[in-house]
Amino acid sequence: MVSILDSEGRLRELCARQGQEHVFRFWDQLDDAQREQLLTELDSLDFEEVSRLVAQHIKGQGAEMPLPHLEPAPFVRLPRTAEEVQEHRQARQRGEEVIRAGQVAAFLVAGGQGTRLGYDGPKGSFPIGVLSSKTFFQLFAEQIFATRRRYATDVPWYIMTSRDNDEVTRRYFATHNNFGLPAKDIIFLQQGQMPAIDQEGRLLMESPHALALAPDGHGGAIRALKRSGALADMARRGVRYISHFQVDNVLIRIIDPDFLGFHVFAGSQMSSRMVRKRSADERVGVFCLVDGRLRVIEYSDLPEELAEARRPDGELQFNAGNIAIHIYDVAFVEQLNQRDYELPFHRAWKKVPFVNELSHRIRPRQPNANKFEMFVFDALPAARKTLVMEVAREDEFGPVKSLTGEDSVETAQRDQMRLAARWCRAAGVEAETDPDGVPRFKIEISPLFATCQDEFIEKMKAAGLKAVSRDTYFE
Ligand code: UD1
Repeated sequence: MVSILDSEGRLRELCARQGQEHVFRFWDQLDDAQREQLLTELDSLDFEEVSRLVAQHIKGQGAEMPLPHLEPAPFVRLPRTAEEVQEHRQARQRGEEVIRAGQVAAFLVAGGQGTRLGYDGPKGSFPIGVLSSKTFFQLFAEQIFATRRRYATDVPWYIMTSRDNDEVTRRYFATHNNFGLPAKDIIFLQQGQMPAIDQEGRLLMESPHALALAPDGHGGAIRALKRSGALADMARRGVRYISHFQVDNVLIRIIDPDFLGFHVFAGSQMSSRMVRKRSADERVGVFCLVDGRLRVIEYSDLPEELAEARRPDGELQFNAGNIAIHIYDVAFVEQLNQRDYELPFHRAWKKVPFVNELSHRIRPRQPNANKFEMFVFDALPAARKTLVMEVAREDEFGPVKSLTGEDSVETAQRDQMRLAARWCRAAGVEAETDPDGVPRFKIEISPLFATCQDEFIEKMKAAGLKAVSRDTYFE
């Protein structure tokens, strides 16, 4: 049997050629298992990619590209006229057809480290239901369950994890019996990793036998979908559209027929949802056009004068905020992989714990390492046709980035209750609220009860409830 230990010579030579021989510094102190781990990690590294990144981002002069000329991106706005309402209705019908035909897969990117929430465990296992304390994962699973039931169809659910949370995520689903979903329709795939690199271009070691590695960003999905066999699996099932969402949005509508319909009618290869930014400094990326092609510019990269520029009617010029909900074609992801299309890497200067030459573990107080990530929205400029579609923030964007403050557990739970109160009122059920729309009594609506307002109204017709007069869980 061939063992990775047999590759020692080759990998030593490769590292020496790349100026990375220090990774073998502790070799003599390692046992066989540790040696195997180190060699396996080195073997999986794309050294050419690493040296390209070092040359371009770390050693390169004027390493960062100047920002190109940006224009605001056009988008399909919320329907106002009768014609627009009619368009949405038709789109919904088309969307429902493709769902019924089993052509849509849900795709959750959940490989992030979720450090800002300060929660020890995959972010998806954080309890977020206002009354039920259900976790993100359970709420997503129930939504998918309800969609399958409503349209009498299969909706395979692909979940991207990363090395550090893969096992615990799988175990979480297994322990909960996949929340009632068939095991064959939950498919886990692991994204790739990138090494942390110091200012001299050297790989950082996390321990004497391990590199400091981190997930390669949600853009790693484009490669991971191909390499894991998920794309082939989708093709085999007849899936044509991938509905991409993030782990941290409590208001996510995972399979949205209106959005799907617009995507299909437009012949778009990749489409994105947006909300109007609530302020110039809101920390969301914005959709822009660069030479006529759609791109997302991260909040940290948008110059202040552009972020603050206003149109004559007072609205922000760059107002299309990215809420990280996309639909892309299976064929498009396949093409990107065929063409060897490379998403660009974004560099971040971060604090990364490492072992020094004396094998002491150091927790730096200042940033010490370059980390590299790809972003999925960087696939947009490669698409032949794209589409951006507005959605009301209060309907579909309840991000949880931290425990308190802006975009936190607190705000997301209020978002959940506000939405529930609106649905109640639309169904003729009185729900007293404060001036912010937050109901006096806690209200939560299980996805198993209703996944959208229309469904809720239908259900409530039979219920005969007049008003919400205590904490109420619709389940
Ligand atoms: C992201 C978007 C931002 C958008 C905002 C909306 C980026 C760079 N920015 O910001 O434009 O306005 O969401 O909420 O994406 N993930 C992986 N693997 C990784 C890294 C992340 O799967 O290697 C997943 C996370 O698990 C999470 C999602 O991607 O589901 C978002 O990651 P995060 O780093 O939290 O993005 P934000 O900076 O919040």
